[in-house]
This record gives sequence, C-alpha cells and structure tokens, in this order.
Amino acid sequence: MNDPLPLAAGSPSWDWLIQDDRVHRTIYTDPSIFAREMNNIFAATWVYLLHESELPEPGDFRRAWMGTRELIVTRDEARALHVFANRCSHRGATVCREPGGKASSFTCPYHGWKYDNRGQLFGIPGKTAYGAEFKARDMHLARPAQVASYKGFVFATLNPDAPPLETHLGAAAPFLDEWIEHQGGADNIMVGGAQRFHLECNWKMVFDNAGDGYHVPFSHQSLLQMTNARYGGGDMSYFADADRSRMKLYALGNGHTVIDQRPDMYGNSAWEQQRPQPGREVFEAHVRATVADADAKRVLESAVGAGMNLNIFPNLLLIGNQIQVVQPLNAGGTTMHWHATRRRDADDALNTMRMRTQEDFPIMGEMDDAGNFEECHRGLVNFPEDEWIDISRHHETGQDVADEEGRIVGPVTSELHLRAYYAQWKRLMAAEPTLRASKSRIAR
Ligand code: FES
Ligand SMILES: [Fe+2]
Repeated sequence: MNDPLPLAAGSPSWDWLIQDDRVHRTIYTDPSIFAREMNNIFAATWVYLLHESELPEPGDFRRAWMGTRELIVTRDEARALHVFANRCSHRGATVCREPGGKASSFTCPYHGWKYDNRGQLFGIPGKTAYGAEFKARDMHLARPAQVASYKGFVFATLNPDAPPLETHLGAAAPFLDEWIEHQGGADNIMVGGAQRFHLECNWKMVFDNAGDGYHVPFSHQSLLQMTNARYGGGDMSYFADADRSRMKLYALGNGHTVIDQRPDMYGNSAWEQQRPQPGREVFEAHVRATVADADAKRVLESAVGAGMNLNIFPNLLLIGNQIQVVQPLNAGGTTMHWHATRRRDADDALNTMRMRTQEDFPIMGEMDDAGNFEECHRGLVNFPEDEWIDISRHHETGQDVADEEGRIVGPVTSELHLRAYYAQWKRLMAAEPTLRASKSRIAR
C-alpha cells in the first residue's frame, strides 16, 4: 500500500521529517523515500544476511537480501564464505531461483553462462562470438564492497567507507555476546528454518515495535489474560506495570537498542515462570532424572528465551532465542523471517523443548503485533491530512539518562528506541554515500 500523496522531491528537510518528538507519516508511505532507504540505509550501512550455521558444509548456498537487493551467500570447498549478486553479468537474469541448497556452480537459465560457487564466470556457450574487448571486461558476479562475520553473524555493505563491523556494532556487541553465551557459545548455535510471513506495512512498523515495551498489556491482552487465568501470572506479566519493573531499555548508538527483560525474567527462575508449553512436565522430569541437581537449573533455563529484545539497526532482531530478519519489499510491504535456533550440545529433549518455546510467541503473540503493524500503515495511508506520528513518550520526563558507558538508559515504555534509531536513520538518509560492487576476479 503506497502513499496517495507522494512527497514532493526535495521539498521538506530531513530535520523537518524527523523531529525529536515526532516523525512525518511520509517516511513510511512515500515510495521515493523508500527508494532512498534502499541505497542510504540498506546498501550504505552494515546489513545482516544470515548466520554461518545456515551454511554448514562446503557447497552450501542460500539467498539473502540487502533490502531489495538479492544476494547469494555460499560456502566454497575451502569453507570460505562468498557473497554476490543474484544477477547475471550477461543480460541481468537471476542465476539462482532456489532459496538454498547445495551447488558447486550456478548456470544462468537464460543463455547458459556458468559461474562457480565463488561467483566467478567460467563458462560461456559459443564463446568464440566474443572478442578481445569482451575478454578484458570484468564479468564475474558483482560482490558488495565489504562482507564481515561477527561470531557467526554475517553482514555486508556496498559502502567501502563503512566503519569496521565491530565498530558499527559498538555497544550492541556486549549484548550480542551475552545472547550468544545464552546459546552456549558461537560454535554451539544452529540456525534452522524460518517461519516467514508477508506484512502489508512499511518495514519500520516492525522495527518501531521491536523496542516497544509500552504495547504489551494492551496488544497482547488476550495472551496475558489466558496466562493469568490458567496459570496465575508468569511469563511477560511483568510488562503490566512495565515502568515500575526492573527491565531497562538501552539506546546503544548507531540505531541499535535493547529491551533487557532479564532482571525480571531471570530474577528468580525463568523456567519456573515460563508460560507452559506442550511437553514441559515430561522435559523437566527428563532433566531431573539425567542431569546432576547442581546443573538442572542451568539446563532448564537454556530452554527458555535469552530475555532480551536486541535490535541491530536496520534489519536484525534477536528476540528470545530467535533470530528475526526484516526484509523490506516496498513502501507498504515487508517479509519477516523468524529463525528458530538449536544448540549443538543439546540432546533431542532440550532442542525439542526449545522449539516449543520458540513456537509459542510467534503463534500466540506475533499475530497481535502483525495486525497492529498493518493497521498502523493503513491508518497512515487512509488519512494523509493527519501528518505526524508521536514518538515523545518519556521525552520530557527526564528519565532517559546517559550511563557511565555512554549508553542512554530509559524506562521500558519510553519511545527512546524510536528517537534513537531515527537519529541514525536521519544521519544516513541525509548523507551521500559511495556504493560499490566489484565484478573483478577473486585472487586465489
Ligand atoms: S542473462 Fe544470463 S546468460 Fe543471458
Ligand atoms: Fe508485541
């Protein structure tokens, strides 16, 4: 769903569109702003592609996206990762039409040009029809200017001037480390398939909600009522009076934020207050029968979510034990990918229990959120004369304060999350970044 009143090109300033306490509706609805986001944000800053465990073996490949740009990520026979465009160097056809699998090469279905799994052109049918000038050209598949992995999380950018990935992650890295630790370490994480769903809304509706501790008792009322009625409270009930809870919201710089639920969720026992899921009693009995008493709590709690909503701008959301990837399609369309994770060191019982807890929120709660994302977008489109979106909650209460590490810490219902990521959004949108892809041969 796109805007019936597109923004006149060049008229309003970024400072007018993004203010301290409100943002203009057109940043969600205008196709020309969306097009600029695809360059200035989804190509010019680090964008999450996939987790290395999705390519466990040599020859594995998956498609991935930097916004609307489609890429292929491969692991070659020497186990090195490669990232290249899904766009034939001949006349532009996609060379890969499968979501993933195993391949030593990719043959373009149109005229049969062949590329190896490093994206290097090695076969052209009827090659004698091409001359010396053609041979001098770089015709390998286009590669982003930078690719880097942080402890298994693979990111790329087309911006050769983007700072190193670790610098970009900055104060988010220690939280990511803690999330990884909850999974038993970087090499222990196995990312599996995903629930994928299409949303009729701008991608930022999803990002807005990822750091929103305000909506829970209202949007998820049926879930909380059911939990209360059947089990007398438990998981997420601490959101009912969120500002008085021990949870905290942190703005971590570069648009990254986190809601840290752990002080409430893990205060006593996260396992004890986890909302019941199928198989819980059998699993607990299995753990108590097979694990030493001193270790039982640790094992039970490894079936429970990591207790944080860690939002790495612009497209990586870690929620519980899951990895969510936001894929913008157009100003009014988004695909969400919810990847479950398993632990390499866990037995089937633990990984099965983890799967039950990871199914729980997407089934019982995510649909509440998805409905709101789409209705927010519809509201913005259907009444364009009402122009502004308010993001001022706790802006004037003085409760968002810098801590000794330079992070801004606020109450969990603060709209600090939106104000923080929009500051980064505005900085990127106002810039004129260099974008570069290389088609040259990879040095061996
Ligand atoms: S477009 Fe790929 S071989 Fe012609
Ligand atoms: Fe929600």
